[in-house]
Amino acid sequence: MCYAIPGKIIEIKDNYAVVDYFGEKKNVLLGVKNVSLGDYIYAQGGIVVSKISKDNATRTLRIWKKQFFELKKIDKKISQPATNGNLLGLMQKVNLGKNLASPELQRLLEMRENKEVQLLLETANNLRQKELGNACCVHGIIEFSNHCRNNCLYCGIRRGSKINRYRMSVGEIIETAKYAVKKLGFKALVLQSGEDDWYDEKKLVKIVKEISELGVLIFLSIGERSKKIYKKLYLAGAQAALLRFETSNKKIFAKVRPGTNLEKRVELIRYLKKSGFIVATGFIVGLPEEKNEDIIKNILLTKDLGADMYSFGPLIPSPLTPLAGQKLLDKNFLLKIIAVTRLADKNAKILVTTALQTLGGDALKMGLIAGANSLMINLTPYKYKKNYQLYPDRDRNKDDVKASIKNAINLLYSLGRAPTDLGI
Ligand code: 5AD
Ligand code: SF4
Repeated sequence: MCYAIPGKIIEIKDNYAVVDYFGEKKNVLLGVKNVSLGDYIYAQGGIVVSKISKDNATRTLRIWKKQFFELKKIDKKISQPATNGNLLGLMQKVNLGKNLASPELQRLLEMRENKEVQLLLETANNLRQKELGNACCVHGIIEFSNHCRNNCLYCGIRRGSKINRYRMSVGEIIETAKYAVKKLGFKALVLQSGEDDWYDEKKLVKIVKEISELGVLIFLSIGERSKKIYKKLYLAGAQAALLRFETSNKKIFAKVRPGTNLEKRVELIRYLKKSGFIVATGFIVGLPEEKNEDIIKNILLTKDLGADMYSFGPLIPSPLTPLAGQKLLDKNFLLKIIAVTRLADKNAKILVTTALQTLGGDALKMGLIAGANSLMINLTPYKYKKNYQLYPDRDRNKDDVKASIKNAINLLYSLGRAPTDLGI
């Protein structure tokens, strides 16, 4: 009896009473006689078992008050089914082909309990496997110039950075691509640079024409260039484009990409998609003032743009930039974003980016088993690659390309994945 909480009778109907316990109302059977409105009672098993004095009740209630609410919280938590009904319900929705709403996606992203997070990642991986099988895209990337006319606050090769600049010649780019396709067996190559007008239409068309003749999918990753140039390059044989919108938050975009604007960038991405390009797009995670809500909007914008591939990764603060002091994100948070993206778009190709890999040793593997199914191998000649520092420690690895490929392939095989874009 000492462990029961006294309640106050606030209503009497026939042989029932309504009892108030810290604002919570319960119906109880009037087991003892002569109780009336305003009395304090103890009930057990739904029956009033005794009446107590007001003084006695107030004293006891004072002791219970704090603990009562603490216990409610604990009870709520541990009464969730072990498999988490919440997540299962959402999974069922995904399985039925229904889209999860933004608040539902955000709830998943904000899961903190280890067990829940583990279940989320496993669920995403399971969905990947069911929907897309074990195919894994392995693209090569050639970073052919670190000149850029822009001054994005987060980027180590921004116009204002004092770094050694380089440009690969048209011939060097073609030779590097030839080696990648003919000797290494790549079936998809990303050609990436800052926004560098030195590569005019004529140069770019030549590069694209010669490389596409090798029988490889070319992803242009050359930033915001005119629609006319993109169209010419498409006709020359570049069938894919990688262009992130960076953030769907207009205010953040305007702050971190001075002189550029979100609408124009999104419009260009839509144009590329409409023109027949295979489009890879996405965002940076961890820009100043970004909220979880923004991350969900980023995922949904990527989906809305009809992304054939999702490319997103954490901001890696570069000491050369105004965002040098920005906090480095936790790898596990990024893994959750991969998983949530998979649940938001079950057919997505999701890239494990180099930036994510920068966060820690087994990030590539962890990303792949959290729902991702694409990766890139850097093919930029070392003498250039070391100066393509969008952020510190970006693939500074001196391993020759063959060793990187071997490592990636071994990893993929150990996970039962087939590297579909590598002809080996
Ligand atoms: N951290 C992470 N990603 C970055 N990028 C540029 N700078 C950084 C950084 N410091 C990304 C941008 C760009 C892509 C080529 O590299 O999202 O689109
Ligand atoms: Fe240039 Fe792209 Fe870096 Fe911005 S993010 S400064 S556009 S290379």
